[in-house]
Amino acid sequence: MSDISILGLGPMGSALCRALIERGRKVTVWNRSPAKAEALVKLGADSAVSVAAAVRSSPVTLVCVDNYQTTRALVQAHDVVSQLPGHIVVELSTGTPKDAREAEPWFVGHGARYLDGAILCGIPAIGTARGLLLYSGDRKAFERCRPLLAALGEGTRFVGEDIATAATLDMAWLSRIAAEYTGIYHGAVICQSEGVNLDLYSSVFPENDGAHFWLEPLKKNDFGNATADVVVWNKAAKLMAKQAREVGISSEVPDLVADILTRAEMAGYGRERVAAMVKILRQAP
Ligand SMILES: NC(=O)c1ccc[n+]([C@@H]2O[C@H](COP(=O)([O-])OP(=O)(O)OC[C@H]3O[C@@H](n4cnc5c(N)ncnc54)[C@H](OP(=O)(O)O)[C@@H]3O)[C@@H](O)[C@H]2O)c1
Repeated sequence: MSDISILGLGPMGSALCRALIERGRKVTVWNRSPAKAEALVKLGADSAVSVAAAVRSSPVTLVCVDNYQTTRALVQAHDVVSQLPGHIVVELSTGTPKDAREAEPWFVGHGARYLDGAILCGIPAIGTARGLLLYSGDRKAFERCRPLLAALGEGTRFVGEDIATAATLDMAWLSRIAAEYTGIYHGAVICQSEGVNLDLYSSVFPENDGAHFWLEPLKKNDFGNATADVVVWNKAAKLMAKQAREVGISSEVPDLVADILTRAEMAGYGRERVAAMVKILRQAP
């Protein structure tokens, strides 16, 4: 038996797996494209041949795929459902509060204990002091998993028994970041359009201000090596817009960001750092 199984080995699922292995945990992994398991097997992970085999291998399964619809598709097969009674499922794919509210009764109805998690940090922060991961739902399940989940970041926190709390805080956190980088990049094109250089622009921000992180790719004119690229940030903006529509609040802010990032994707910048949005903002549409 392993300590924990992971479904989904994209960049984030793989980072979660590495952090667990580095802290001595026995991990079983499964991914739709099996090749992504190979590097993790070399580090000591076991590779399961199916979702059912992965769930059977551990008392806890952590899911980190593109969205909740994928999670449901993976777990609703008969041979997986039959493994769920008594099993702890931890969802770490990003979703809206409504996604969390729909997932909880499904898992609980099939006998599982369910935690809804949210990752409020980038891949480099996983397993470090900067790793902020929130969980809501079944408090006892969290307490049981805490030693495992703590490996993913020192900011591991239980935020409440209302299943939607972690996802709500995630949407709010993403909103602040989207507004921050969009404002900073619009500021950069204001400066460039008026002949003010980027060094002078960044000098108006305090030394420890996040603006310096966002401006770095522009200063170096290097938009590569993205741990979270335009596609990832556009997905986050669209999810915030979805949340707004689900509850009837204004979606204007995330719609604006998603519109700019969609145009960046269409122009071929999808795999670049989000700073590539300046290439869209430099010209009137
Ligand atoms: N990357 C970040 O910086 C970051 C930060 C915070 C939160 N997150 C969240 O973490 C989750 C995973 O993100 P990610 O960056 O690893 O990449 P991602 O592109 O969001 O997800 C990739 C994973 O989803 C799987 N997948 C997609 N469609 C599938 C399907 N129909 N059936 C089975 N598996 C499917 C992929 O399998 P294949 O390999 O077979 O395609 C891969 O394992 C997302 O919900 C994301 O929002 C990511």
